[in-house]
Order: sequence, then C-alpha cells, then structure tokens
Amino acid sequence: MRTPLVAGNWKMNGTQASVAELMQGITQGAGNIDGADVLVCPSFVFLSQVRTVTDGTSVALGAQDLYAEEGGAFTGEISGSMLADAGCEYVIVGHSERRALTGDSDSLVAAKFSAAQKVGLTPILCVGESLEERKSDTTLAVIGRQFSTVADAVGIEAFRNAVVAYEPVWAIGTGETATPDQAQEVHSALRGMAAKRSAKIAADLRLLYGGSVKAANAADLFSMADIDGGLIGGASLDTNEFLSICEAATG
Ligand code: 13P
Repeated sequence: MRTPLVAGNWKMNGTQASVAELMQGITQGAGNIDGADVLVCPSFVFLSQVRTVTDGTSVALGAQDLYAEEGGAFTGEISGSMLADAGCEYVIVGHSERRALTGDSDSLVAAKFSAAQKVGLTPILCVGESLEERKSDTTLAVIGRQFSTVADAVGIEAFRNAVVAYEPVWAIGTGETATPDQAQEVHSALRGMAAKRSAKIAADLRLLYGGSVKAANAADLFSMADIDGGLIGGASLDTNEFLSICEAATG
C-alpha cells in the first residue's frame, strides 16, 4: 500500500514571521492527519527555523533543490549533505521552474537525484509538459524522456526511495488544474514506464500531482487510482488550505 504524501513547496516565499505563523498552524493541524504523510519544503534560509518546529512532530522537512556536487568551491550552492545535516529528509529535483529559470537539463536532474540519494535524502523528481507540448500531443513523450533519463542513469532500484511528481507546466500557478482524468492518464503512463523496469517498484512508487491543487479540487484528484498525493505551491502557504488538502489525501 502506498501512503499518500502531501508536500508543500513554498517556493521563494516567506519571512521569519510568516514562517513561524504558518508552521504553528501546520504542526498543530498535522497531528490530526492520520493516513497521509505531510512534508514542507521551505527556502534554504528557513530550514533551520522550520526544523525547530517540526522536530518531534509528524511533519517532515525537505528542500527545493540541491547542487549535484558534494562540496567545495561552488559559491552560492547547497549540497545534499548540508541539507541532510539541516534535518531534511526530502529534496525536490527537476522542478519546472528550475528547468526553465536555471536550465536544469534532464541529465543534471539525474545527477541531482543521485547526489540526493547518496546522502540519504529522498528525491522528489518533477516531470511535466508545457502547454505547447500538450497541444502538440507530445505529453507522454516528454514525460517519458524526463523519467527515462533519470531511470537510465540511476537504475530503477533507486526508485525504491524516491517520489515522482507530475506537474504540467501549464497548470502551475495558473489556477488551471489538470482534470482528474487528464492527471490519471499521465500517472498511469508513468507507472507503466516504471513497471517495464520493475513491476514491484512501480507498484510501490508514490506519484504526486502538482499544479493549482487547492482544498476545493484535491479530493477529486486524490481519488484517482494512480495519484498518491500532491505537490502544492500557492495553497501550501495558507494553513487552512494546506491542512484541508492533507485531510483530502487521507481518503
Ligand atoms: P501551484 O500549486 O502554485 O500551482 O504550484 C505547483 C507547484 O509548482 C508545486 O511544486
């Protein structure tokens, strides 16, 4: 059985004061969430602050990215071991915003995935097509390429300790959500791609949906057979919205 996971990706948002308020609400509310894992991914600068609140609670801590090298003269970058040392259990790799803004290629994403696992972090690999790609009917080819580059590089066994998030680029921050059927079609295809390499690992692999998930649409999305929770952007900055989405994931 796959335990659903709801992950908040705070992106480049927050102040120490807003983070303190948000975390107070989330840790309180998450104590009542039974049957879904809850994760928050703040900016690097808030990791230590958030850790002091999540320690000893059911809320897990993750980061939004990492650098693929282990350490050294890489000004401005953050390594996986630093994240593990800061209390992270998870790290997002290949978010479409990093693919677009800093040019993270499929092979760099694979290197980051591998670097994360080397230090015991669970990577959350993001895949997703642009609007043009969906319109030109290449969605599954794009997802296939993004997934296979990583799976070829790290081997399917590595997905025992990984999460994959399907985030259609056209649904991120736009208010336009993939319908449950549209999302399920891609999730099912993704699980099929993993199953070609290992049926067992595919069956256990958590597949999150991300892109304008809110309290109002979460339950419908999470009711689909291959959707095992969500990667939440904007709505994860609102305590009540986020907790309602977590609640929806408990079925
Ligand atoms: P929104 O929920 O704001 O659309 O963002 C989704 C996302 O990119 C999560 O990683």
